[in-house]
Amino acid sequence: MSRDHGGPWWQQGVIYQIYPRSFQDTDGDGVGDLPGIQRRLDYVHSLGVEAIWLSPIYPSPMADFGYDVADYTDVDPIFGTLEDFDRLLAACHQRGLKLILDLVPNHTSDQHPWFLESRSSRDNPKRDWYIWRDPAPGSSPDRPLPPNNWRSFFGGPAWTYDEATGQFYLHQFLKEQPELNYRNPEVLAAMLDVMRFWLARGVDGFRVDVLWLLMKDPEFRDEPPNPDWDGVDPHQGLLHIHTQNRPEVHPIIRRMRAVMDAFTRNTGRERVMIGEIYLPIPDLVNYYGENGDECHLPFNFHLLDTPWQAQAVRRLVDTYEAALPAGAWPNWVLGNHDRSRVASRLGQAQARVAQMLLLTLRGTPTCYYGDELGMEDVPIPLAQMQDPRALNQPEIAHLVGRDPARTPMQWDDSPHAGFCAPDVEPWLPLAADFPSRNVEVQSQNPTSMLRLFQALACLRRTEPALHRGRYRAVEAVPHPASVFAYLREHGTGRFLMVLNFGQAEHLLDFRHLGAQGTIRVSTDMRTQGPVSLAELPLAPNQGLVIQL
Ligand code: NOJ
Repeated sequence: MSRDHGGPWWQQGVIYQIYPRSFQDTDGDGVGDLPGIQRRLDYVHSLGVEAIWLSPIYPSPMADFGYDVADYTDVDPIFGTLEDFDRLLAACHQRGLKLILDLVPNHTSDQHPWFLESRSSRDNPKRDWYIWRDPAPGSSPDRPLPPNNWRSFFGGPAWTYDEATGQFYLHQFLKEQPELNYRNPEVLAAMLDVMRFWLARGVDGFRVDVLWLLMKDPEFRDEPPNPDWDGVDPHQGLLHIHTQNRPEVHPIIRRMRAVMDAFTRNTGRERVMIGEIYLPIPDLVNYYGENGDECHLPFNFHLLDTPWQAQAVRRLVDTYEAALPAGAWPNWVLGNHDRSRVASRLGQAQARVAQMLLLTLRGTPTCYYGDELGMEDVPIPLAQMQDPRALNQPEIAHLVGRDPARTPMQWDDSPHAGFCAPDVEPWLPLAADFPSRNVEVQSQNPTSMLRLFQALACLRRTEPALHRGRYRAVEAVPHPASVFAYLREHGTGRFLMVLNFGQAEHLLDFRHLGAQGTIRVSTDMRTQGPVSLAELPLAPNQGLVIQL
């Protein structure tokens, strides 16, 4: 397949997120592992993606399934060993795939040796590595009051009292995830060493967890109530002006980026830093840095929350494109391990349109494992729920629980879909539809979602207009509100995307763009070939990639 090397790999290719617990079990414990990922690498390669991002694989008590790290420089036995990791990395590189790790700098596990030391006494040298505060005024020894009103994303206060030392520590997630203190320079130095450890092993980049939360108000002021709160998730009842998006976070990010850049320079291999940042667009784009010296890709999650209507999505794309600083490279995300799956949010027909949008917009696309099959959220009965966010808040578990989007990958129609051995219980139940929705079935069906994904990813790789061309929204005449059309152009390459977000058929007139075009991909995976741009038929829920 020919390839245009006009920019770094992280601009040109697709990132594929693997949730390691759920991809492939090989050692019979019902939990996926690194040898399992290696076994499935040819599949990942066949998708036409560029890079794999692995959710955390480090030793962890798994209170938050690996986002509670007890050792930043090793692999949890549940996933394998460091040698397994090295083998996986080499196997990726042999296939031309990049490997991106999840870095979790904001908090550790409460079992991390740093925290065990920190909590051991008030004068321990690591005391100040975490965020400790005295009880609020008005506390009594048997009724210590939290230092302020800050709340955890996972329910309850963001503070837990440590009886032995008489202070509270901060955690915006579980109490098992104490937050590191980035006002202490030793902490950043230690985290930069963690990055160097993995970069020296050869990893191609990091997705950095909750990057916009790293710094908190030095005065620990109360957060004001959120006047627009819908009354559902208590965490959203406050405006997080003192715990999120603090200006002091930017110098920290620049230091992290400098480590990445040093490895890029010294090895001649581009490394990428991706930031997990849930912020409105004007704030989000600040995370590229004033001189492009922060994140290469601050994750753009706005497709997850924008109403799925053609004009709303068009406004989103145009607003984002216009907000990008000079030289900043865009990116788009349709799903991840924290959010409802795209096929459940939009339905199967529109999930195809969404994949076409994701893979034809300007900017790096991120695809969550299984979304290429249209895997759906799996309802998890209370007794089988695993996600601490749901278990801590049973009254809103059905709204905030993340297990439904983390179920095992659907490989084939054998017991447990080939994810684990027939006599092994998978850590989360399989979707009921796995006998018909799986890799094996969809590989053989030329009109499947999988084949659509592969066709789009392949076209994107081979056509410079699609992986690096300009973007411009265009009018579809007679202006149906449910159609979003745009061009991608590079040199003589020119593509028109026409996406029908609705249920009505349309006959569209694009003759201002030329007389004829060629349909290269249709979401139905049937329609192909020359079309008249003066009379272009568009079926309900249909998306078209037309070469002009
Ligand atoms: C964001 C991660 O994506 C999520 O899964 C995790 O629970 C929190 N950060 C805490 O690390």
